[in-house]
Amino acid sequence: MSHSLPISSIDAHEILDSRGNPTLSVCVVLDDGTTATSSVPSGASTGAHEAVELRDGDHDRYGGKGVQYAIQHVRGEIARLLTGYDAANQAEIDGMLIELDGTPNKARLGANALIGVSMATARAAAAAVGEPLHAWLGSHPGHLLPMPCMNVLNGGKHADSSLDFQEFMIVPVGAPSFAEAMRYGAQTYAALRDLLHEQGHRTAVGDEGGFAPQLDSNEQACELIVAATERAGFRPGKDIAIALDPAASSFGSNGDYDLSRSGTGKLDRAGLLALYGRWIERWPIVSIEDGFAEDDWNGFIDQTEAQGKQIQVVGDDLLVTNPRIIRDGIARAACNAALIKLNQIGTVSETMEAVRMCHAAGWKTMISHRSGETIDDFIADFAVAVSAGQIKSGAPCRGERLAKYNRLIEIERQLGARAEFHNPFQRD
Ligand code: PGA
Ligand code: ZN
Repeated sequence: MSHSLPISSIDAHEILDSRGNPTLSVCVVLDDGTTATSSVPSGASTGAHEAVELRDGDHDRYGGKGVQYAIQHVRGEIARLLTGYDAANQAEIDGMLIELDGTPNKARLGANALIGVSMATARAAAAAVGEPLHAWLGSHPGHLLPMPCMNVLNGGKHADSSLDFQEFMIVPVGAPSFAEAMRYGAQTYAALRDLLHEQGHRTAVGDEGGFAPQLDSNEQACELIVAATERAGFRPGKDIAIALDPAASSFGSNGDYDLSRSGTGKLDRAGLLALYGRWIERWPIVSIEDGFAEDDWNGFIDQTEAQGKQIQVVGDDLLVTNPRIIRDGIARAACNAALIKLNQIGTVSETMEAVRMCHAAGWKTMISHRSGETIDDFIADFAVAVSAGQIKSGAPCRGERLAKYNRLIEIERQLGARAEFHNPFQRD
């Protein structure tokens, strides 16, 4: 099937993300009049090797976080280059963006500029041919809805709670459909709120919509999740499991880790691995992401060897959605799954390549939002298009988090009997 959908114009302007920081809204218009927009998310606990987000550095505007230069690049160089090219040819458009930037980490034009254009182009093409974005992006029609991993307790760089670990997620592994998974998650989240309230903890939320209480220990977070699961009428492990993103680069490097915020103290690589081992025995944990720091490859390798049969070992800061680094990760057996963030690498095509590479190696994938988000729901369609199997978009709270989950509920409804949903952690 060939399409010719020439791009007639590309524009961008500054909007604000969920933390009140500036970001780009990009608009692509095709010759036939089809118009599509995208907006760009932004991380707080970013990996050192991520594609570079271009910020103005003018401290009189948004403390230096303005994106006027990135916008100028979209309106100028990028628009000039892509005008007249076929929006239906995503790979070609993305290749041109990469070449125009000319740096290995997209630092010149900005990965925020590039990913905004790349996503809006995909959306415009899908709209022009009258297909849902997930069907347009999927080379074979994807019908698999991802398992939602909902971050209900926030710590690390996402909240001023007492938790060293950044994310404690609930995973509704026993739910029969995506919509039911959201119900399991939302009811457990509500029970957790009641529990925290009764115990005298504050129930204000962090960047990703999870609660951010002052607990006595990291362990207490897992205890509370299990208690909330039961209180909501679900079975821990059978209906609701736990996934963690310690985001260990934020409390350690080179095999030395400092968990003093929660009062745990200092641990070396082996000590942290042993801690995870005890937790896996004690609680229904199915996945640990960035359990070690991004420069501690041996931590990941040791964990995959020791615990990779019991749990999913996910690389986020370690792999930064970069096909080149993922190839290395696969060769070294450093993980058995990858976190996938479009803006970590900067184009839709490279992100799809990263997913393909993981699946070909037998790795699992989890599509991810960023802690700074907008109401853009691109990742919902993307997760279905690539049959990712899992998605994380925060708690069932805050509009920018729900935008993605609600879009997936809509996709599931539209797919009807063709929709598939299953527990990716099922052991056969
Ligand atoms: P970030 O965090 O968006 O702040 O980088 C998300 C994550 O670490 O998974
Ligand atoms: Zn992470």
